[in-house]
Amino acid sequence: MQAQHLSIREQQKASWNAFSPGWKKWDDFTMRFLQRQGDQIVEALDLRADHHVLDIATGTGEPGLTIASRVVKGSVIATDLSEGMLRVAQEKAAAQDVRNFRTQVADVCELPFGDNSFDAVSCRLGFMFFPDMELAASEMIRVLKPGGRLAVTVWGAPEQNLWITAIMGVLKKSIDMPTPPPGAPGMFRCAQPGFITTLFEKAGIAGGAESEITGEMHCSSADEYWAFMNDVVPPVVAAFKDSEATVKEKIKLDVYNVLAEQLPGTQKNIRYGARLFTAVKPVA
Ligand SMILES: C[S@@+](CC[C@H](N)C(=O)[O-])C[C@H]1O[C@@H](n2cnc3c(N)ncnc32)[C@H](O)[C@@H]1O
Repeated sequence: MQAQHLSIREQQKASWNAFSPGWKKWDDFTMRFLQRQGDQIVEALDLRADHHVLDIATGTGEPGLTIASRVVKGSVIATDLSEGMLRVAQEKAAAQDVRNFRTQVADVCELPFGDNSFDAVSCRLGFMFFPDMELAASEMIRVLKPGGRLAVTVWGAPEQNLWITAIMGVLKKSIDMPTPPPGAPGMFRCAQPGFITTLFEKAGIAGGAESEITGEMHCSSADEYWAFMNDVVPPVVAAFKDSEATVKEKIKLDVYNVLAEQLPGTQKNIRYGARLFTAVKPVA
């Protein structure tokens, strides 16, 4: 793997390990927020009870745990780069008494599985963070059985995602943030319609389908939104790393104003948009 890709991988691993306590704390909230994307992935995979499924970049275990509850005579292997995130996934599997689900640390670009091993492959919101996205796509195709399905979601365009732009827009105006190098991981790296389709075409699957998923993040108040974003979302925390308390307080007020303008009332239902890509591996 190229040096640039190795360095992205190490940064991602360190970052997600550091964020795993925040993800654990907010797990119920986050899983509600992302559930519609998980439901659509599960539906697209057309699962059978005896299927063996690979969930890539599973984080705290979804959609792998939901898939495990469907493939009752089969199994799920849930992989991720971050041991910290996988620890939370294992705790959830134990708490839910899910026995056909196991976790394994693995970089999507070097999957430790043989060719044609899985009936289906899922990946919710992982692609934007992968060092070499084309290699990731070819690894997913390699381990999928001919005739098997894969389903992937990524974040859509900024204008569909007020949940992130409400805070990042204010941050960009208020703090001198370094411009990331081209190709660096980021929330909107895969947002362009057709981007994921082209990636998979280059990696060997033509004829995939892309669609849009929209929904809302339900926050009981602006305070809940602010706390969530500061515990769970890496670019927000990175931006505040060296900020003084007064600067942070001013940014907080500005963000609350953006939310008040766009969403009057205490409860904040904040829109998001994602893209679903699904494809079937051709039978040779
Ligand atoms: C936004 S989280 C998504 C977690 C989960 N799928 C969900 O939707 O709740 C992104 C995950 O991608 C993982 N990740 C980042 N780079 C990776 C890589 N190269 N290989 C595997 N996982 C990776 C991170 O560790 C993190 O857990």
